[in-house]
Amino acid sequence: MLAPFASIFSAFALLHCALASPTGPTPDKTINKRAVTPVLSAASQVATASDPYWNRDSCTSVRVQYREFWTCRDSAGSGGEFYSSTASWSDFNNGPLITNGQLYLYGDDHGEYFKNQADECGPTAGICGNNTRYAIWPDSPPLPVAGSNNAVKLYTWIKKSCLNQSTLAPLTQNPATSLYRSDYSPANQGTNKTLPPVTLVNENFWPANSIPYGDYGWAISPDGKTAYLYGQLSNGTANQGAALARVPIGSIEDKSQYSYYNNGGWSSTAPSITSTSARIANAGTMGQGTFYYSSFFSSYLWIGADSINLGSGFYVATAPAPEGPWTSPTLFYNGTNGNAGLGAYSQQAHPGLTSSNGGGNDIYLTFSKNDNDANGNVQTSHPLIHAIWK
Ligand SMILES: *[C@@H]1O[C@H](CO)[C@@H](O)[C@H](O)[C@H]1NC(C)=O
Ligand SMILES: *[C@@H]1O[C@H](CO)[C@@H](O)[C@H](O)[C@H]1NC(C)=O
Ligand SMILES: *[C@@H]1O[C@H](CO)[C@@H](O)[C@H](O)[C@H]1NC(C)=O
Ligand SMILES: *[C@@H]1O[C@H](CO)[C@@H](O)[C@H](O)[C@H]1NC(C)=O
Ligand SMILES: *[C@@H]1O[C@H](CO)[C@@H](O)[C@H](O)[C@H]1NC(C)=O
Repeated sequence: MLAPFASIFSAFALLHCALASPTGPTPDKTINKRAVTPVLSAASQVATASDPYWNRDSCTSVRVQYREFWTCRDSAGSGGEFYSSTASWSDFNNGPLITNGQLYLYGDDHGEYFKNQADECGPTAGICGNNTRYAIWPDSPPLPVAGSNNAVKLYTWIKKSCLNQSTLAPLTQNPATSLYRSDYSPANQGTNKTLPPVTLVNENFWPANSIPYGDYGWAISPDGKTAYLYGQLSNGTANQGAALARVPIGSIEDKSQYSYYNNGGWSSTAPSITSTSARIANAGTMGQGTFYYSSFFSSYLWIGADSINLGSGFYVATAPAPEGPWTSPTLFYNGTNGNAGLGAYSQQAHPGLTSSNGGGNDIYLTFSKNDNDANGNVQTSHPLIHAIWK
């Protein structure tokens, strides 16, 4: 059974009132770019993204060669399984392949995708039996790093969140963050349902009480050389906004190659998780969302939820550079909330589903929608929305 409150983005963010919104475009001569404001031309639901085997929520995705690769959170299988994460493929045919109103997600590995470790009440789902749960939930899409012969390494940072299973209140503030790597190779996963196998690179890649860079999201520079990783700051009890690290794209696993943005500059020393000087105003609302670089706007974009994190409103913020200045997130589209459970949550953008892999005048969106089925059980679906910018 899918617990009705199982999968809201783990940190219920508080509204923070002190958003220092950049007002109006302030040309920055060093980067010679202005903040842009995307304006919606049209948006409509074009399909439901679903794998008939799974009732699951909070799906993200990324382009891998000629298919889209998806990772999702809590997944209840038709065979009675319950996992903290599962993964899938979807196909293209001049855009996402939509058949009978469905974008079919498929994959044959009916196991937990990002495995709970032994110290996370593994091997599956992380349910400890004493009303606590390790929720190993991916918060952002896998970050793709191209190798030779179309191989792709896919990196996912996941917080080792330990929750009160009834209330979902975190039992540990600022847990460590694990780095997982999925290895896609066209010979082994190129043509069938096989999913890229997952390796745990480092269970404590970011130790407890350090900034979980990469968990909140990431973007790749337009030249493809640099990965920018966002992680959320915390004052011990509450989310305090996003901080930023960067690393050469080929050195994701090598912590000595990282640098960290703090006090308006880059440093080889990571700021502490409480450092307000590391906060990048408006780089996301603190709610769920997706960062990416758009060549259409010559800009970095963040698209996601408002900071309260329930509902299906989609906000957009832009910045000429990953370190900002970011525009104040503005609401551009409302989905339709479900009628049960949490209604709607986990807004995500899917640049990989667009024909230009995020570079054009359009974007696909999903959110998790909770509705009661005929038996009164909560079912989660993912409306797929196609939005076109002016
Ligand atoms: C719950 O059980 C887990 C696994 O045995 C243990 O590590 C943890 O300390 C327990 N938590 C509480 C609050 O009892
Ligand atoms: C979980 O929360 C409930 C309700 O507040 C509380 O009674 C219980 O003791 C909590 N359990 C743990 C392990 O913290
Ligand atoms: C999918 O590819 C893997 C790796 O080559 C192979 O082991 C497996 O048999 C293939 N499955 C199908 C259904 O073709
Ligand atoms: C953290 O921030 C929250 C929200 O602003 C505030 O209520 C809380 O008192 C702060 N906690 C600490 C330890 O500063
Ligand atoms: C979304 O809904 C809110 C609340 O009803 C409304 O204030 C807002 O104008 C709507 N925005 C859009 C873009 O539809």
